[in-house]
Amino acid sequence: MVNKENLFITFEGGEGAGKSTQAKLLEEYLKGIGKQTLLIREPGATNMGEKIRKIISENEETIEPLTELFLFSAARKELVEKVIQPALAQNITVICDRYIDSTIAYQHFGRNIELQTVLSVIKLTTLNLLPDLTILLDINYKEMIKRKTNNLDYFEREEEEFHKKIQNGYNKLAKQEPQRWKVFSANSTEMEISEKIIETVNQMGIT
Ligand code: TYD
Repeated sequence: MVNKENLFITFEGGEGAGKSTQAKLLEEYLKGIGKQTLLIREPGATNMGEKIRKIISENEETIEPLTELFLFSAARKELVEKVIQPALAQNITVICDRYIDSTIAYQHFGRNIELQTVLSVIKLTTLNLLPDLTILLDINYKEMIKRKTNNLDYFEREEEEFHKKIQNGYNKLAKQEPQRWKVFSANSTEMEISEKIIETVNQMGIT
């Protein structure tokens, strides 16, 4: 039970897990019951963030792991300061499609940047603003490649081993902090997953 007027909720998971769909369904539900809700995505939601998203997703060369870390972190700094903090201060529930755990999963577990380095950059950019709830949509590699077949972006083109490291990394993070994380298999139907997510959010006692 959190019993706050508003929540900060994040969605995490590998490529094609259905985060964006589920985030949208949750936003619609919360708005439908009269809660002020803001849905945003990372990287993005600010001018700078959307430009950085484009730079990364359209990139066709390899990017140094630390460059990746700094690009995502630059986008996040803008987002936290200009969008997330102000919205939370106005008692708006913020739903973010990816946040700090993407950086731990992709840049630490995926790209092998030392955990301490990643955590210190996260601390600098977010001042340790943690979500009240993080929903992991757990997807395995086989399912992922079934769902993503054409127009693969920078990360989607990575090989199986990379995606497995991300999936294992996410599950490790969820186990370390079970009070913040809720894990749902991405294999159920959209509506089944959505109902479970709504039930979880309602159990948090949003007032
Ligand atoms: P996106 O289109 O949001 O992917 P998806 O639809 O699967 O959520 O693209 C964001 C990509 O950036 C995604 O592959 C994960 C990656 N990413 C990181 O590597 N580190 C980060 O900190 C963030 C926010 C995203």
